[in-house]
Amino acid sequence: MDSASDPILVRETARRRTFAIISHPDAGKTTLTEKLLLYSGLLRTAGMVKNRKGGKLATSDWMSMEQERGISITSSAMQFEYHGHVINVLDTPGHQDFSADTYRTLTAADCAIMVLDAAKGVETQTRKLFAVCKLRGIPVLTFINKLDLPSRSPLELMAEVEEVLGIQASAINWPIGSGREFVGVAERATRELALFEKTSFGGARRAEMRKVPLDSPEAQAAIQPEQRKQLAEDLEMLEVAGNPFSREAFLGSRITPVFFGSALTNFGIEPFFDAFVELAPPPSSREVITAAGSESVEPSAPFSAYVFKIQANMNPKHRDQMAFIRICSGRFERDLVVKHVRAGAVLREVRLSRPQTLVARDRNTLDEAFPGDVVGLINAGFAIGDTLAVKAGFEHQPLPQFPPEHFARIEPADLTKRKGFDKGMETLAGEGAVQVLRSYDNPIANPFIAAVGRLQFEVLQYRLKDEWNVETLLSPLPYACSGWLQGDITQFKPTPGSQVAKDARGRIVVLFPSEWDRQYCLRQNPDFQLLDFA
Ligand code: G4P
Repeated sequence: MDSASDPILVRETARRRTFAIISHPDAGKTTLTEKLLLYSGLLRTAGMVKNRKGGKLATSDWMSMEQERGISITSSAMQFEYHGHVINVLDTPGHQDFSADTYRTLTAADCAIMVLDAAKGVETQTRKLFAVCKLRGIPVLTFINKLDLPSRSPLELMAEVEEVLGIQASAINWPIGSGREFVGVAERATRELALFEKTSFGGARRAEMRKVPLDSPEAQAAIQPEQRKQLAEDLEMLEVAGNPFSREAFLGSRITPVFFGSALTNFGIEPFFDAFVELAPPPSSREVITAAGSESVEPSAPFSAYVFKIQANMNPKHRDQMAFIRICSGRFERDLVVKHVRAGAVLREVRLSRPQTLVARDRNTLDEAFPGDVVGLINAGFAIGDTLAVKAGFEHQPLPQFPPEHFARIEPADLTKRKGFDKGMETLAGEGAVQVLRSYDNPIANPFIAAVGRLQFEVLQYRLKDEWNVETLLSPLPYACSGWLQGDITQFKPTPGSQVAKDARGRIVVLFPSEWDRQYCLRQNPDFQLLDFA
């Protein structure tokens, strides 16, 4: 059947909401995800899916949930239904698992939820993840969390979002007080007060939210006179100077709607999720690269997808790899035959006979999927950024390189193993495990490696040993940031402590001991730019 006239494809695409949560560790991402499951009716009580020590979701708990309630979980995405929508939550690991994969996964999202801690505002990891959303034009909704604890002033938080992230913020609701004085939130559109009531279950069960008109005696009784004055001032200020919300500006990444609440106590969660499924876009067309330039591929076009993540050795017995694809167009069915496209060339035809969704160590074979969905494939030579498509003639946008923060020099411990070392490094760099840089002045010296998260170095060393039988020596280098140089290299004046290198695609990268050094270098080289992404 022609995909464009496939009513199931059209319906299923419209139902999908594929998103990632961007936040700094501890802002409440896990808690919010759990509440999404609670409110979708998949969990009766929250608080059971968290491995408290690691702050990560415990796979075993997910597994039993999966079996009981039909939630599909890969190590890259979780899928379930919420009010008639199919939700795909992409996993963007933070904490010590923060890596280039976290950034790359974000490119597979149609939308992001930014969770901020109301006491802390915009923190570093949020800023970095937001930069990727900006780069890729991914719309962002903001949830300011932990209002049940002492918080910063909402106006100050909104101003910080605008100043630090360079996006307009538009408050959908407005908190009254915080911590012990937290009364609830005023809904700006309806001028109602949603009253905060602590549940006796500590947020484990769904909260019934009571809404009363803002000027009703009940609302007035709940709000202290001082709070009333502050609220009146704030609301007036928002009317006069605030940004009016427009869905078009949101979808164009020019504005972020802001919601306040408390994920732990469930306060403001349900209205936020309901607004989310309405506002968040379903999968839409994607710009692709063709021989003639670029064109747009609609979700209703024949099947196409791209590889955004590769995870190696998930099953130590089989030593295989899982390639995660994000479906961009068409209906995915088992045994589909697709063209495998890389760098403009069709490498081969592949039958996708063993599509998988992954649950812990057991693999369930999946039969059908739609645009917005994530499918895991037993890797047969896929690399990050590869396109799979029923029809040849285009490929999806290449994934950017993300700003590394850790740098090291690496060499084989036994020099006779150089061949295996070079081969291993080439393969692993191709998978996006690390970025490989070479000194600009001395390109034959041992390479530098660069990564977003330090754990990536450990994984690299482990895999070189396990898969290529090469022990390596790793010496950390004293650089903390870098930038891709834009300008005439012959005119560039390196600053003390910096290092000029070339990346695998021959682009010039400059490494610096600190952000201060990077800024200093820019001042010394006013005709140059240092890009965060390449
Ligand atoms: P993360 O995934 O973004 O890293 O954050 P996570 O949800 O794990 O939340 C980090 C901590 O903040 C947790 O406490 C969690 O209970 C708490 N938290 C999340 N949302 C709220 C909120 O709205 N109000 C309050 N008061 N706390 C919140 P923890 O002590 O680290 O872990 P736990 O032992 O309580 O689970």
